[in-house]
Amino acid sequence: MKGVVLAGGTGSRLDPLTRITNKHLLPIYDRPMVTYAIEALVGAGIGEVMVVTGGTHAGELFRLLGNGSEWGVDRLLYSYQDRPGGIAEALGLARHFVNGDRVVVMLADNIFGQSISGWVANFEAQEAGARLLLADIDDPCHLCHLGVAEIDSGRIVAIVEKPDVPPSRLAVTGVYGYDASVFETIAELAPSGRGELEITDVNNAFVDRGSIEFDVLDGFWGDAGESIAAYYEVNDFVRRGGANRPSADRPGDDQPG
Ligand code: G1P
Repeated sequence: MKGVVLAGGTGSRLDPLTRITNKHLLPIYDRPMVTYAIEALVGAGIGEVMVVTGGTHAGELFRLLGNGSEWGVDRLLYSYQDRPGGIAEALGLARHFVNGDRVVVMLADNIFGQSISGWVANFEAQEAGARLLLADIDDPCHLCHLGVAEIDSGRIVAIVEKPDVPPSRLAVTGVYGYDASVFETIAELAPSGRGELEITDVNNAFVDRGSIEFDVLDGFWGDAGESIAAYYEVNDFVRRGGANRPSADRPGDDQPG
């Protein structure tokens, strides 16, 4: 199993903070955001990781993560996305690194209160295809900023990106498990209206093939890049409750308030 951390993008929703650095280098409590995604993968037993970045400040990512040993990574590689081509295009850059293996992909602005190791174990046990980790969110306004799963008879039948009317309360978090077929799927994708290769189109391709499973998250999840309010909510949660805690260890696992 390989890990890919996606740490590119312009971070426009956190402007002007992101005029002076990469979003994923902004602090979450006492360390830069990207380190939590690395920690989540390492904590789930994934020691071979590629970080894909883009835009400015790639050098600072090197300086922070180095060869990965300080962060528990056995083998750390980097790739660089030279234009804003979307999350799926960024993942496509990891094709040779993944090299026919399975891959767990994490968006580096996603922070989880609990370890993702149970979800990774479920993905390992699954025969083929993709696996998502969904979060139950009761605020329709919040769901409108995310990908949302439509469920029928316990199966995902569609994922709707940034829906006006959410088809369920189950948001698609930024952790994705794929078998090696994902790279053929990406190669066949057409750019969306905004000219990017969308991760939701990748996931819907697995939905169409009937080859996608999911778990529903138990615990805190936040997308720190969603808005300045979300960035501070995630900061508050991590300061009080920590992140990537072993599943049995749940102090502070209440929502911030
Ligand atoms: C991306 C995905 C979206 C997902 C979200 C999770 O959105 O497109 O489906 O719910 O990450 O963080 P973005 O943050 O790029 O708007």
